[in-house]
Amino acid sequence: MNKPKILVARAIFPEIIARLQQHFEVEANQADETWSRAQLIERLRGKVGAFTTGTDRIDAEVLAACPDLKICANMAVGYNNFDVEAMTARGVLATNAPDVLTETTADFGFALLMATARRITESEHFLRAGQWNKWRYDMFSGSDVHGATLGILGMGRIGQGIARRGAHGFGMKVIYHNRSRLDAVTELECKARFVSKEELLNTADHLVLVLPYSPASHHAIGAAELALMKPSATLINIARGGIVDDAALAQALRERRIGGAGLDVFEGEPRVHPDLLTVPNVVLTPHIASATVPTRLAMATLAADNLIDYLTQNKPLTPLNPAVLAIK
Ligand code: GLV
Repeated sequence: MNKPKILVARAIFPEIIARLQQHFEVEANQADETWSRAQLIERLRGKVGAFTTGTDRIDAEVLAACPDLKICANMAVGYNNFDVEAMTARGVLATNAPDVLTETTADFGFALLMATARRITESEHFLRAGQWNKWRYDMFSGSDVHGATLGILGMGRIGQGIARRGAHGFGMKVIYHNRSRLDAVTELECKARFVSKEELLNTADHLVLVLPYSPASHHAIGAAELALMKPSATLINIARGGIVDDAALAQALRERRIGGAGLDVFEGEPRVHPDLLTVPNVVLTPHIASATVPTRLAMATLAADNLIDYLTQNKPLTPLNPAVLAIK
Protein backbone atom coordinates (compact mmCIF):
# COMPACT_ATOMS: atom_id res chain seq x y z
CA MET A 1 0.00 0.00 0.00
CA ASN A 2 1.25 3.51 -0.79
CA LYS A 3 2.33 5.44 2.25
CA PRO A 4 0.72 8.84 2.91
CA LYS A 5 2.83 11.74 1.66
CA ILE A 6 4.18 14.41 3.96
CA LEU A 7 6.44 17.43 3.63
CA VAL A 8 9.19 18.40 6.06
CA ALA A 9 9.61 22.07 5.23
CA ARG A 10 12.97 22.76 6.88
CA ALA A 11 16.16 20.81 7.57
CA ILE A 12 15.87 18.62 10.63
CA PHE A 13 17.73 15.83 12.48
CA PRO A 14 18.30 12.91 10.06
CA GLU A 15 16.93 10.48 12.66
CA ILE A 16 13.63 12.36 12.60
CA ILE A 17 13.43 12.00 8.83
CA ALA A 18 14.19 8.28 9.22
CA ARG A 19 11.44 7.95 11.86
CA LEU A 20 8.92 9.67 9.61
CA GLN A 21 9.96 7.49 6.66
CA GLN A 22 8.79 4.41 8.56
CA HIS A 23 5.23 5.70 8.17
CA PHE A 24 5.22 8.17 5.30
CA GLU A 25 6.62 9.01 1.92
CA VAL A 26 8.65 12.02 2.98
CA GLU A 27 9.68 15.00 0.89
CA ALA A 28 12.35 16.70 2.97
CA ASN A 29 14.34 19.91 2.66
CA GLN A 30 17.63 18.79 4.16
CA ALA A 31 19.44 21.41 2.08
CA ASP A 32 17.36 23.93 4.06
CA GLU A 33 16.51 25.91 0.94
CA THR A 34 14.54 29.08 1.56
CA TRP A 35 11.27 28.60 -0.28
CA SER A 36 8.97 31.35 -1.51
CA ARG A 37 5.30 30.95 -0.64
CA ALA A 38 4.67 29.67 -4.15
CA GLN A 39 7.39 27.04 -3.71
CA LEU A 40 5.99 26.01 -0.33
CA ILE A 41 2.52 25.65 -1.83
CA GLU A 42 3.88 23.70 -4.80
CA ARG A 43 5.63 21.23 -2.49
CA LEU A 44 2.68 20.94 -0.11
CA ARG A 45 0.24 20.01 -2.90
CA GLY A 46 -0.77 16.37 -2.60
CA LYS A 47 0.68 16.07 0.94
CA VAL A 48 -1.53 15.06 3.87
CA GLY A 49 0.88 16.28 6.53
CA ALA A 50 3.42 19.03 7.02
CA PHE A 51 6.25 19.28 9.53
CA THR A 52 6.73 23.01 9.94
CA THR A 53 8.78 25.47 11.95
CA GLY A 54 7.92 29.02 12.96
CA THR A 55 9.17 30.31 9.61
CA ASP A 56 6.51 28.50 7.57
CA ARG A 57 3.29 30.49 7.33
CA ILE A 58 0.18 28.33 6.97
CA ASP A 59 -2.82 30.51 6.15
CA ALA A 60 -6.04 30.48 4.15
CA GLU A 61 -4.20 30.91 0.83
CA VAL A 62 -1.95 27.91 1.47
CA LEU A 63 -4.85 25.80 2.73
CA ALA A 64 -7.02 26.62 -0.29
CA ALA A 65 -4.21 25.56 -2.61
CA CYS A 66 -3.51 22.30 -0.71
CA PRO A 67 -6.87 20.56 -0.16
CA ASP A 68 -5.27 17.20 0.75
CA LEU A 69 -3.62 18.63 3.85
CA LYS A 70 -4.88 17.15 7.14
CA ILE A 71 -2.29 18.23 9.70
CA CYS A 72 0.48 20.77 10.20
CA ALA A 73 2.80 19.92 13.09
CA ASN A 74 4.85 22.88 14.28
CA MET A 75 8.23 22.27 15.86
CA ALA A 76 7.76 25.26 18.17
CA VAL A 77 5.61 26.08 21.14
CA GLY A 78 4.59 29.38 19.51
CA TYR A 79 2.29 29.04 16.53
CA ASN A 80 1.64 32.54 15.27
CA ASN A 81 2.76 31.25 11.85
CA PHE A 82 -0.52 29.29 11.78
CA ASP A 83 -3.91 30.78 11.04
CA VAL A 84 -5.59 28.32 13.40
CA GLU A 85 -9.07 29.61 12.63
CA ALA A 86 -8.58 29.03 8.90
CA MET A 87 -7.13 25.59 9.64
CA THR A 88 -10.11 24.64 11.78
CA ALA A 89 -12.51 25.88 9.11
CA ARG A 90 -10.79 23.59 6.59
CA GLY A 91 -10.60 20.65 9.01
CA VAL A 92 -6.80 20.81 9.19
CA LEU A 93 -5.33 19.88 12.56
CA ALA A 94 -2.69 22.19 14.05
CA THR A 95 -0.22 20.95 16.66
CA ASN A 96 2.64 22.66 18.48
CA ALA A 97 5.52 21.48 20.69
CA PRO A 98 4.89 22.65 24.28
CA ASP A 99 6.46 21.54 27.59
CA VAL A 100 9.58 19.85 26.19
CA LEU A 101 11.32 23.23 25.85
CA THR A 102 10.13 24.97 29.01
CA GLU A 103 13.18 24.60 31.25
CA THR A 104 15.73 25.10 28.45
CA THR A 105 13.98 28.28 27.35
CA ALA A 106 13.72 29.54 30.92
CA ASP A 107 17.47 28.92 31.31
CA PHE A 108 18.09 31.02 28.24
CA GLY A 109 15.82 33.83 29.42
CA PHE A 110 17.86 33.96 32.57
CA ALA A 111 21.14 33.83 30.64
CA LEU A 112 20.03 36.79 28.54
CA LEU A 113 18.94 38.65 31.67
CA MET A 114 22.32 38.06 33.31
CA ALA A 115 24.27 38.96 30.16
CA THR A 116 22.29 42.18 29.76
CA ALA A 117 22.34 43.27 33.39
CA ARG A 118 26.09 42.60 33.71
CA ARG A 119 26.96 43.90 30.21
CA ILE A 120 28.73 40.71 29.23
CA THR A 121 28.67 40.96 25.44
CA GLU A 122 29.35 44.70 25.43
CA SER A 123 32.45 44.22 27.57
CA GLU A 124 33.56 41.25 25.49
CA HIS A 125 33.40 43.33 22.30
CA PHE A 126 35.53 45.97 24.05
CA LEU A 127 38.09 43.38 25.05
CA ARG A 128 38.18 41.70 21.64
CA ALA A 129 38.66 45.08 19.98
CA GLY A 130 41.89 45.48 21.98
CA GLN A 131 40.52 48.47 23.91
CA TRP A 132 41.28 47.11 27.39
CA ASN A 133 44.50 48.76 28.46
CA LYS A 134 43.77 49.44 32.13
CA TRP A 135 41.28 48.60 34.88
CA ARG A 136 38.87 51.30 36.06
CA TYR A 137 36.57 51.30 39.07
CA ASP A 138 33.47 51.98 36.97
CA MET A 139 34.31 49.91 33.92
CA PHE A 140 31.16 48.18 32.61
CA SER A 141 29.27 48.59 35.87
CA GLY A 142 25.96 46.89 35.43
CA SER A 143 22.94 46.30 37.61
CA ASP A 144 22.48 43.60 40.23
CA VAL A 145 20.34 40.58 39.53
CA HIS A 146 20.23 39.03 43.02
CA GLY A 147 17.68 40.70 45.25
CA ALA A 148 16.31 42.85 42.42
CA THR A 149 12.69 42.98 41.30
CA LEU A 150 12.01 40.59 38.46
CA GLY A 151 8.98 41.44 36.34
CA ILE A 152 7.43 38.86 34.02
CA LEU A 153 4.89 39.70 31.34
CA GLY A 154 3.16 36.46 30.28
CA MET A 155 3.12 33.88 33.05
CA GLY A 156 2.72 30.57 31.26
CA ARG A 157 5.02 27.60 31.73
CA ILE A 158 8.19 29.41 30.62
CA GLY A 159 7.36 32.53 32.64
CA GLN A 160 6.88 30.35 35.70
CA GLY A 161 10.26 28.68 35.06
CA ILE A 162 11.92 32.08 34.99
CA ALA A 163 10.08 33.15 38.15
CA ARG A 164 11.27 30.03 40.01
CA ARG A 165 14.86 30.67 38.95
CA GLY A 166 14.67 34.29 40.06
CA ALA A 167 12.88 33.71 43.36
CA HIS A 168 14.62 30.56 44.54
CA GLY A 169 18.04 30.94 42.92
CA PHE A 170 18.65 34.69 43.12
CA GLY A 171 16.41 35.85 45.94
CA MET A 172 14.53 38.17 43.57
CA LYS A 173 11.17 39.72 44.31
CA VAL A 174 8.95 38.42 41.52
CA ILE A 175 5.99 40.33 40.11
CA TYR A 176 4.01 39.35 37.04
CA HIS A 177 1.18 40.39 34.79
CA ASN A 178 -0.82 37.94 32.72
CA ARG A 179 -4.22 37.75 31.04
CA SER A 180 -5.39 35.67 33.97
CA ARG A 181 -4.03 35.39 37.48
CA LEU A 182 -2.30 32.15 38.49
CA ASP A 183 -3.87 29.94 41.15
CA ALA A 184 -2.63 30.49 44.69
CA VAL A 185 -0.52 27.31 44.81
CA THR A 186 1.40 28.22 41.63
CA GLU A 187 1.87 31.80 42.84
CA LEU A 188 3.33 30.44 46.06
CA GLU A 189 5.63 28.03 44.20
CA CYS A 190 6.91 30.87 42.02
CA LYS A 191 6.86 33.34 44.94
CA ALA A 192 5.20 35.66 42.43
CA ARG A 193 2.81 38.54 43.02
CA PHE A 194 0.20 39.55 40.41
CA VAL A 195 0.30 43.27 39.54
CA SER A 196 -1.18 45.57 36.91
CA LYS A 197 0.80 46.05 33.70
CA GLU A 198 1.54 49.61 34.76
CA GLU A 199 2.95 48.54 38.14
CA LEU A 200 4.97 45.84 36.40
CA LEU A 201 6.50 48.39 34.05
CA ASN A 202 7.39 50.97 36.63
CA THR A 203 8.54 48.59 39.38
CA ALA A 204 10.60 45.91 37.61
CA ASP A 205 14.38 46.16 37.61
CA HIS A 206 14.42 43.41 35.00
CA LEU A 207 11.41 42.78 32.82
CA VAL A 208 11.15 39.51 30.89
CA LEU A 209 8.59 39.09 28.09
CA VAL A 210 7.23 35.59 27.64
CA LEU A 211 3.76 36.17 26.23
CA PRO A 212 2.46 34.67 22.97
CA TYR A 213 2.26 36.88 19.89
CA SER A 214 -1.19 37.79 18.62
CA PRO A 215 -2.68 40.96 17.15
CA ALA A 216 -3.61 41.85 20.75
CA SER A 217 0.02 41.65 21.93
CA HIS A 218 1.45 43.51 18.93
CA HIS A 219 3.69 46.29 20.30
CA ALA A 220 2.64 45.47 23.87
CA ILE A 221 5.91 47.24 24.65
CA GLY A 222 6.12 50.48 22.66
CA ALA A 223 7.28 54.02 23.35
CA ALA A 224 4.59 54.63 26.01
CA GLU A 225 5.41 51.45 27.94
CA LEU A 226 9.18 52.03 27.70
CA ALA A 227 8.61 55.51 29.14
CA LEU A 228 7.11 53.91 32.26
CA MET A 229 10.18 51.75 32.93
CA LYS A 230 12.99 52.70 35.30
CA PRO A 231 15.97 54.33 33.56
CA SER A 232 18.15 51.55 34.99
CA ALA A 233 15.81 48.69 33.98
CA THR A 234 16.62 45.91 31.55
CA LEU A 235 14.12 44.46 29.09
CA ILE A 236 14.40 40.86 27.90
CA ASN A 237 12.37 39.56 24.94
CA ILE A 238 12.37 35.80 24.43
CA ALA A 239 8.73 35.77 23.29
CA ARG A 240 8.23 36.89 19.68
CA GLY A 241 9.23 39.70 17.41
CA GLY A 242 6.46 42.26 17.11
CA ILE A 243 5.64 42.23 20.81
CA VAL A 244 8.22 44.99 21.20
CA ASP A 245 8.31 48.03 18.92
CA ASP A 246 11.98 47.58 17.99
CA ALA A 247 12.39 51.12 16.61
CA ALA A 248 11.05 52.64 19.83
CA LEU A 249 13.26 50.32 21.86
CA ALA A 250 16.40 51.25 19.91
CA GLN A 251 15.64 54.92 20.52
CA ALA A 252 15.05 54.37 24.25
CA LEU A 253 18.34 52.45 24.48
CA ARG A 254 20.24 55.11 22.57
CA GLU A 255 18.84 57.84 24.81
CA ARG A 256 19.56 55.70 27.88
CA ARG A 257 15.93 55.89 28.91
CA ILE A 258 16.27 52.25 29.94
CA GLY A 259 19.44 50.52 31.04
CA GLY A 260 19.69 47.73 28.50
CA ALA A 261 17.89 45.06 26.54
CA GLY A 262 18.45 41.41 25.73
CA LEU A 263 16.68 40.27 22.59
CA ASP A 264 16.36 36.80 21.10
CA VAL A 265 13.47 37.68 18.77
CA PHE A 266 12.89 40.57 16.38
CA GLU A 267 10.22 42.20 14.25
CA GLY A 268 10.63 40.80 10.73
CA GLU A 269 13.48 38.43 11.74
CA PRO A 270 15.94 37.34 10.50
CA ARG A 271 16.23 41.05 9.66
CA VAL A 272 17.16 43.12 12.70
CA HIS A 273 16.28 46.80 13.02
CA PRO A 274 19.53 48.54 11.99
CA ASP A 275 19.41 50.88 14.99
CA LEU A 276 19.56 47.89 17.35
CA LEU A 277 22.83 46.87 15.73
CA THR A 278 24.48 50.17 16.56
CA VAL A 279 23.39 50.74 20.17
CA PRO A 280 25.88 49.29 22.64
CA ASN A 281 23.58 48.44 25.56
CA VAL A 282 21.81 45.51 23.95
CA VAL A 283 22.55 41.79 23.81
CA LEU A 284 21.35 40.20 20.55
CA THR A 285 20.90 36.50 19.81
CA PRO A 286 19.35 34.82 16.73
CA HIS A 287 16.19 33.18 18.16
CA ILE A 288 18.01 30.38 19.99
CA ALA A 289 16.23 30.24 23.36
CA SER A 290 15.29 26.56 22.96
CA ALA A 291 18.53 25.61 21.20
CA THR A 292 20.14 22.75 23.08
CA VAL A 293 20.56 19.46 21.27
CA PRO A 294 18.34 17.40 23.62
CA THR A 295 15.58 20.02 23.60
CA ARG A 296 15.58 20.59 19.85
CA LEU A 297 15.52 16.80 19.41
CA ALA A 298 12.60 16.53 21.86
CA MET A 299 10.71 19.27 19.98
CA ALA A 300 11.30 17.58 16.63
CA THR A 301 10.30 14.20 18.06
CA LEU A 302 7.07 15.66 19.42
CA ALA A 303 6.23 17.26 16.06
CA ALA A 304 6.98 13.96 14.28
CA ASP A 305 4.90 12.00 16.81
CA ASN A 306 1.98 14.35 16.30
CA LEU A 307 2.09 13.56 12.57
CA ILE A 308 2.43 9.84 13.15
CA ASP A 309 -0.16 9.57 15.91
CA TYR A 310 -2.72 11.68 14.10
CA LEU A 311 -2.33 10.21 10.63
CA THR A 312 -2.13 6.60 11.82
CA GLN A 313 -4.40 6.58 14.89
CA ASN A 314 -6.26 9.91 14.94
CA LYS A 315 -4.64 10.62 18.34
CA PRO A 316 -2.38 13.68 18.17
CA LEU A 317 -0.42 14.46 21.32
CA THR A 318 -0.69 18.24 21.46
CA PRO A 319 -3.56 19.48 19.28
CA LEU A 320 -4.27 23.21 19.13
CA ASN A 321 -7.67 22.89 17.49
CA PRO A 322 -9.11 19.61 18.85
CA ALA A 323 -12.47 20.56 17.36
CA VAL A 324 -11.06 19.12 14.12
CA LEU A 325 -10.88 15.68 15.76
CA ALA A 326 -14.62 15.71 16.44
CA ILE A 327 -15.55 16.61 12.86
CA LYS A 328 -13.15 14.15 11.22
C1 GLV B 1 10.27 29.19 19.62
O1 GLV B 1 10.29 30.36 19.44
C2 GLV B 1 9.10 28.44 19.90
O2 GLV B 1 8.00 28.99 19.84
O3 GLV B 1 9.22 27.24 20.18
